[in-house]
This record gives sequence, C-alpha cells and structure tokens, in this order.
Amino acid sequence: MSTSGEHFSNRFSVVAALAGSAIGLGNIWRFPYMIGEYGGALFVLFYLLCSVFIALPIFFSESIIGRRGGSGVQASFQAINPKGKWSVIGLLCLLTPTLVMSYYSIVGGWSLDYLIKSFEGYFMKVQPAEATKYFSRFTSNPWAPLLMHTAFLGITALIVSKGVEKGIGRINKRVIPVLFVLIVLILVYSLSLPGSKAGVDYLVKVDFKNAGVGVVAAAMGQSFFSLSLGMGTILVYSSYIKKNENIPVSGLLTVLFDTAFAILAAFAIMPAVFSGGIEPSAGPSLVFETLPYIFSSMRGLSPALSYCVPVVFFLAILLAAVTSEMSLLEVGTNYLIESKHMSRKKASWIVFLVGLLLGAPCSLSFGPLRDITLFKKNVFEIFDFSASNVLMFAGALVFTLFVGWRMKKSDVYDELSNGGSLKGIKKLFNPLYFWIKYVIPVVVVLLFVLNLAMS
Ligand code: TRP
Repeated sequence: MSTSGEHFSNRFSVVAALAGSAIGLGNIWRFPYMIGEYGGALFVLFYLLCSVFIALPIFFSESIIGRRGGSGVQASFQAINPKGKWSVIGLLCLLTPTLVMSYYSIVGGWSLDYLIKSFEGYFMKVQPAEATKYFSRFTSNPWAPLLMHTAFLGITALIVSKGVEKGIGRINKRVIPVLFVLIVLILVYSLSLPGSKAGVDYLVKVDFKNAGVGVVAAAMGQSFFSLSLGMGTILVYSSYIKKNENIPVSGLLTVLFDTAFAILAAFAIMPAVFSGGIEPSAGPSLVFETLPYIFSSMRGLSPALSYCVPVVFFLAILLAAVTSEMSLLEVGTNYLIESKHMSRKKASWIVFLVGLLLGAPCSLSFGPLRDITLFKKNVFEIFDFSASNVLMFAGALVFTLFVGWRMKKSDVYDELSNGGSLKGIKKLFNPLYFWIKYVIPVVVVLLFVLNLAMS
C-alpha cells in the first residue's frame, strides 16, 4: 500500500484508472490512421504482438517499482534502493509527465470548446468549409484557447484533489464504461452512412506493401504511447494497488481495454471520413478539421442526428482526455505529497499552476507565438517531440534496467506473484525476468534510434 495510505478500493477501480490513463487521444487520432497506413489487419497484429511482448513487460516493470516502493517516481527508487543514486534519476522522470500534462491540456481545452460549440449546434448550422476553418480561427486567437486550457486543467485538478479513490478512482469507474458506450454509438452511426464501406476496406485490407522494420517500429511506438509507458503514471497508480491485487492481470486487462477501444475508434472514425470522400489524416486535423467537415456535410441526412453526433463525439474526446490528464497530474501531485509533505489539495493546485504556465506558450504557439520555432517545430511540437520521442523511451529504459539490474530477483518475483500466492506466475517468471533484464532494454534503445531516424 502507498506510504500515504491511499489506495484503489478494488480491481475494477485499478483497471478503470489504468485504462483511463491509457485510453486517450492516441487511440482516437493516431491509431485509426496508422492501421490504414501500415497495412490494415497486419498492423493490428503487429500492434498486439508488440503490446504483449514488449509493452506489457515494461508495464509490469513500472508497476513492480510502484507497488514495491509504495510511492511516486522518486521516493519509490529511494525506498527500494536507499543507497543508490536512482532517486535522482527518478526525479528526472517527473519532467516527462509535467511536459505532457501541459500540452495535453491544450488539446483537452480544444475538445471542451468543440463540445460547447456542438451543444450550440454550430457544426450543423455552418457550411462544411466553414466548419473546417473554425480550427485555425479558434486556435490562432490568443484568449479563447487559454481560457479553455485553464478550464480543462481546473476540472482535472479538482478531481485529483479529491483523492485517489474518491476522486480518480470514482470518476474513472464511471467514465470508462460511458466512453465505450459513446464510441459504439458513433460506430453504429458511422457504419450507417452512405459510402462508409470504403472506410471499412481501408481498415481491414491486408497490405504487405509497408511490411518491414518500419511497421514494427510504428506499432511499438504506438503501443508505448497508448499504454502511457515510461512517464511514471503507471508507476504512481501502481503504488495505490493493494498487495493482494494481481499486477499481471491488471496489466493484461489494461492492454485489452486500450486495444479494444482503439479498434472501435478506428471503425467509428474511418468509415465516416471515407463516406465524406476525404483522404484520412492523423493528429489534430483529423479530429478538429476533417470530422467537423463530415458532421456539417451530413446535416441534410437527419437534423436530430446532426445535432447529437458531434455532441457525443466531442464528449467522448473530452472524457478520454480528462482521464488521461488525471494520471499525468497525479505524478506531480504524488511527488509533492510524499516528498514535500504537502496536503493533497495544495499539491494538486500547485501542479495545476505549473501546467497552466507551461501550457500557455504551447497554446499561443498556434497564434501569436507561431514564429518561435526550433528545428521547424513550434513550442507545442517541441514539447510533444521531446516527451514522446525521447523522454518516453528514456523512462521505459530506466524502469526496466532498475527492475532487471538493481532490484533483487526475489523481490521482483514477490511483487508479480503476490508473495508466491499466484501460482500461474511460477513457470512464466524466469523467462519473463530474463526478457526484462536482457532483451527489453536493447529493444527500447533500438526503437529509440529507429524512431529518431524516421522522424
Ligand atoms: N496514452 C495516452 C493516449 O493514448 C497518451 C499518453 C501517453 C499518456 N503517455 C501518457 C496519458 C501518460 C497519460 C499519461 O492518448
């Protein structure tokens, strides 16, 4: 149990929280596009293999450190290995969630604005071209996105300030089932649109054209990002997992829910995009330009649906973003509570302030600060690049090296098998330990290099 005494009440709470962190914008705006680009069903297969054989062992490593140390990124290293210098490295691991929290919140703010606009019926009132242009008009304005950023971050900080089970656990347990319902509703609508079959074909075709190292690297990178690895969020959430809870099963269920949601999202989005006769894209433009175009162009079909579909869609995006953002805020909040002995309320609002300030230049980089660039990347892109192309891998490396080379093997076994009581782990343990110690670190380094070479 965590040193602060807080914990998730049961398995549902644990898995909902981990899935809440994992299911996010990556599932909605990146995965559907990658399936199509990297050979359809083949990519999904690679993705599943990478998730189980590469991402899951890293997930276990983070979980093992968190539950064993019973604390956050720095204090857990300290607790397990008091004399080592690892706690300094642990402190560096705070940087990644702080960066991600700041720019993720900008996108969260956009979703909030789009949800409000959908409630006003905006996307059914305007012409498709106008609906697309709304994005650049909105993001280039300095104030409105900043206001939304503040509101989004404020909502998240409020939830986090309520506590691990009372805030984070309770909200995730409610939101995750709702998210699945919403995405299925959109899927049914999307498949009913004329011309949607082309989108289904795009997703299910098996295409060997791109098969090769590139696909494997893309699948691995996506599975890391989607499962929120290497950023300390899994570590911190795991410190709230009770000793009798099952780490391997929680990890497997998280992969299962995350992947299921990503596939549902692909079939909810791509058929609609194709039915509008548009080339699919990835990233912000898919969600904030292409889909509004589709929503607006479908308005002739049924006014009631044209009103409801954008509301449901942007609500899903907003909820997915809030549950991921909560896990990011929790890393810093946990640090201030456990290492600086602050109250949870104070800690979460300090983290809110940090996110507010660091996020501001990211938000303005679409407007007044758009000319400030480094290697052709604006501030937002620099944050994203350094976190998801550099620091994420560094974090994953640190966690697996620590488990493989610093922790006692018997302690690792103890955590994975709950003191030997989970009998199923016995046979799997030795190969898994070998895998974490020798294979995963090499794979992570290779992937990091490949990823840099391709970007
Ligand atoms: N997994 C999230 C998504 O799919 C993104 C993400 C990456 C994340 N690392 C994270 C979210 C750490 C929370 C915490 O969109």
